[in-house]
Amino acid sequence: MKLNESNFIKACYGKNDSTIPVWVMRQAGRYLPEYRKVREKVSFLELCRSPKLIAEVVRQPVERFGFDAAILFSDILIILEPMGMKVTFPEGGPRLEGRIETPEDVERLTDYDVREALPFVPDGIREIKKALPDTPLIGFAGSPFTLACYLIEGQGSKTFNSARQFIYRYPRTAEKLLSLITSVTAEYLKAQAETGVDAVQIFDSWGGLLARDDYGRWSLEYINKIFGQIEKFHIPRILYLNNTAPFTEHLKKAECDVIGADYRTNLAELARILPDKAVQGNLDPAVLFATPETVREKAKRILDSLDNHDNLIFNLGHGILPKTPVESVEALVATVHQYR
Ligand code: CP3
Repeated sequence: MKLNESNFIKACYGKNDSTIPVWVMRQAGRYLPEYRKVREKVSFLELCRSPKLIAEVVRQPVERFGFDAAILFSDILIILEPMGMKVTFPEGGPRLEGRIETPEDVERLTDYDVREALPFVPDGIREIKKALPDTPLIGFAGSPFTLACYLIEGQGSKTFNSARQFIYRYPRTAEKLLSLITSVTAEYLKAQAETGVDAVQIFDSWGGLLARDDYGRWSLEYINKIFGQIEKFHIPRILYLNNTAPFTEHLKKAECDVIGADYRTNLAELARILPDKAVQGNLDPAVLFATPETVREKAKRILDSLDNHDNLIFNLGHGILPKTPVESVEALVATVHQYR
């Protein structure tokens, strides 16, 4: 399949002169009745470990809405279990048993062979490729800092205070922890690239909580080490950074092709500051709870604000929310696809 000729891959390299591509973060998820039906039968972790079911839920939103890219179904926290941290997904968000509180706790975590420990990921990618041979597939991982946030906090948080305290209190140990996560993540994304994903995205969901001066040292440096190891696959590399706006200058140094922005960021301004990169984003996911007419207006506002559409991948500024009306997603896709 000539996926390099797809609008999505061309847009990642700033070379799409055709219809603007659109997909949404967390597009396989609870807002879809057909996803909920699969989840009635299996737990989230069972779903993540079943290559056949992975392919089924990845295909659902692509077929229903005509998204221009598919994304692997898994979770950024999946790589932590073989490292030695038990992760569960109860209602209300992930829980990690025995979080990292001291430098000694980091000794419990180990490097491992991702291909051996997580075979359902490459197997899932092969199943997705059979089900959706003509749709570009995005592989993904969390940023080392974002994963460290969960390891240290033990659960989700708005501020991840304990993780930020940890890096300043134990900088040497924090470097060791981030290096370990970086090495596992690079192998994990290499395994995905070797199996055939067409692009990779790193989710830096919480690096944007760092002070401006410290973003490079504690987040971007490790992300770049991973991207450096993916370069040889010649597939687009996307960095999604939640809370993008304060870090636009840092992002000039990001070794990737596309920057994904959160919904508080001015996408046109970001594109002007980063002329050599494509941009992805950035409608507020909450807008999808408005009328289809408002969804169209809000999406158009973003589209109209940009001078260049050849390097645009339309997306939400964060993951789609549970209970989002599917009619809003239909209106969004139609608006983007009809724009030019
Ligand atoms: O985008 C996709 O469709 C692919 C699948 C995907 C999931 N998680 C599935 C998921 C991706 C790319 C992720 C990434 C992820 N996971 C991130 C980074 C993106 C972001 O939101 O900033 C983070 C921080 C996580 C950690 C995580 N996993 C949280 C905070 C939660 C609970 C919140 C929630 O939505 O329930 C999860 C669980 C999770 N991951 C679900 C899904 C579909 C819900 C599980 C269910 O079906 O009950």
